[in-house]
Amino acid sequence: MNMKAPRGTQDLLPGTTEKWQYVEAKFKDLCNRFNYSEIRTPIFEHTELFQRGVGDTTDIVQKEMYTFTDRGDRSLTLRPEGTASVVRAFVENKLFGLPSQPTKLFYFGPMFRYERPQQGRMRQFVQFGIEALGSADPAIDAEVISLAMSGYQELGLRSLKLVINSLGDSESRTNHRNALISHFEPHKEELCGDCQLRLEKNPLRILDCKKDSNHPAMETAPSILEYLNDESKLYFEAVKIHLDQMGIAYVVDKNLVRGLDYYNHTAFEIMSEAEGFGAITTLSGGGRYNGLVEDLGGPETPGIGFALSVERLLMALEAEGIELPLNNKLDCYFVALGEKASSEAVRLTYELRKAGIQVDKDYQDKKFKAQFKSADRLNAKYVLVLGDDEIENKIVNVKDMNSGEQEEVAFEQLVSYLQEVLRGGK
Ligand code: HAM
Repeated sequence: MNMKAPRGTQDLLPGTTEKWQYVEAKFKDLCNRFNYSEIRTPIFEHTELFQRGVGDTTDIVQKEMYTFTDRGDRSLTLRPEGTASVVRAFVENKLFGLPSQPTKLFYFGPMFRYERPQQGRMRQFVQFGIEALGSADPAIDAEVISLAMSGYQELGLRSLKLVINSLGDSESRTNHRNALISHFEPHKEELCGDCQLRLEKNPLRILDCKKDSNHPAMETAPSILEYLNDESKLYFEAVKIHLDQMGIAYVVDKNLVRGLDYYNHTAFEIMSEAEGFGAITTLSGGGRYNGLVEDLGGPETPGIGFALSVERLLMALEAEGIELPLNNKLDCYFVALGEKASSEAVRLTYELRKAGIQVDKDYQDKKFKAQFKSADRLNAKYVLVLGDDEIENKIVNVKDMNSGEQEEVAFEQLVSYLQEVLRGGK
């Protein structure tokens, strides 16, 4: 019997989940400032969606999908990424018909890829992503990139490298494709089986083959930048100008092609340059995907987005030695001595919680000293002491654990007293 979490998955336990919540809150706040709204789509979709959306010849579709047949004989797939699902939802729910365009969406959620697990590469991982649908303005390409960069920077990351490229429009891509075929054709027999197929179906995919990456023909392969038509060149220039205006540094890498088929024009990745980050340095990636909405049955709508994984983000924070400012304190802890006091503590704890105050108490019949230890361990700001004397006088002895000062507070004053001191008013 195998009772372990499946390979490539992990449990996130208290102590770690707080980091995840912090990161999520940061990106939600950022999306609010950039005016992106949250979308939640199903974890599984019809398999065709990814075959069409992500592309039949990609590694993701060919090798990495968790596909299963349900009891109704449908082929379903656990989503390997978010863009295809978001575009499907955009089309199905006719979001293109809403008066305010572009439609700017964000999502958080688990994605699934059957990859060889290693540090930073999981079979279940959590992506945060955004998609802006309905604008072909290069300024929105820069907006998407700036949101990604701001998120990392506001969390404290410094060793970042933004890499951009243009994959051009369909005319440029067709010309580049033909050039790639002529270039690789003489080497066909030396390439791996997958690449031999890719040569016919999608030669661009050869450039991100893991097996053939050291083949000499890779180095000399024609770059898309040499095949950009004037329109694509202008578009790329405009994106770069906007990034310059925002003061966002980047390097152009003509070999950046991305592993999903829907991209055209702007493509980008953000890498960590922190020492000790590990072999996989890509923190996030994205790009423009004009044409995907039509491919999935919608009206002509340009789109651009990006996604990052929280796993790699947390690795980068660790590599740069960044501690998130987590609140690991508890507002109050009740220490009660004797049966009557314990019973009264139950009532008062509930009162305080209803009033919005964070409070906990002992549930293990611990001795007085041990209860204080628990309060210490939980980093309580205030310890509320309740013994026979206090019960008699209907007061609580409130100890400020920071200053060591104690104050007697009447039962009926307890809520307002704690609200005030916790707000920093006393
Ligand atoms: P992607 O490059 O396949 O793009 O994935 C985006 C990010 O997800 C990666 O940069 C990486 O941080 C993370 N990631 C991918 N695979 C794994 C894994 N096995 N374990 C941990 N993290 C992983 C996309 O998914 C596109 N949908 C991005 C996009 C949105 N393009 C336009 N809009």
